[in-house]
Amino acid sequence: CLTPDLLHLHSLDNSIVVVADIFRATSCMVTGLAYGIESITPVATIEECKALQLKGYLAAAERNALKVEGFDLDNSPFSYMSESLIGSQVAMTTTNGTLSISKAKAGAVKVMVGAFLNLGALANQLRAEQYDILVLCAGWKGRPNLEDTLFAGALAEALKDEFMLMEDSVLMAQRLYNQGKNNLPAFVANSSHVRRLQRLGIQKDITYSLQTDLYDVVPVLRGSKLVAHH
Ligand code: MLT
Repeated sequence: CLTPDLLHLHSLDNSIVVVADIFRATSCMVTGLAYGIESITPVATIEECKALQLKGYLAAAERNALKVEGFDLDNSPFSYMSESLIGSQVAMTTTNGTLSISKAKAGAVKVMVGAFLNLGALANQLRAEQYDILVLCAGWKGRPNLEDTLFAGALAEALKDEFMLMEDSVLMAQRLYNQGKNNLPAFVANSSHVRRLQRLGIQKDITYSLQTDLYDVVPVLRGSKLVAHH
């Protein structure tokens, strides 16, 4: 599913949904749980995030790639590496990533979080599953984007021997990934969110988030919280 606006076309009854927002929400989630954050509670709105902050959660809020005033954390994966976060409960809202998780949560058998950073571990866990797999690309405000589509293609490529590819969107993503896989940073260079982040002076998050298999952590939604599954 190349954008959450098309999620209504899919029946989630028998599906595990893997949400991907490569720049940068799901790369932050994977990094944070790998570095020892206890749980990340994704919420769709600033208000929900504020309410959790008032309950004692560390709160991360991003809109249009910028930190929202009054919150503790921004949406850079490097902000999730701090020792001071080990064992903490984090609440997070982002423009597209956490919104996609909220939408997936409504009907899926299970919600998992994917990024290039945990691609291999995620593929290994999915190989053992009997359910259908739906990759939900967070995109940007209803529009598909290149980096999330590339991730969907990478996962489809990794699982091609175990699962049947159900529709052309998967084939498109897979072919795109095979075209770009040898140099992902160059392949995404002119994409919209790369340009948006670069306008804000954020380059290192892009390079970082395109690395494959840095961590073996797979964030899985348990109730309202994402927790690490190894
Ligand atoms: C999002 O959820 O839309 C993104 O993670 C935006 C960002 O790069 O901060």
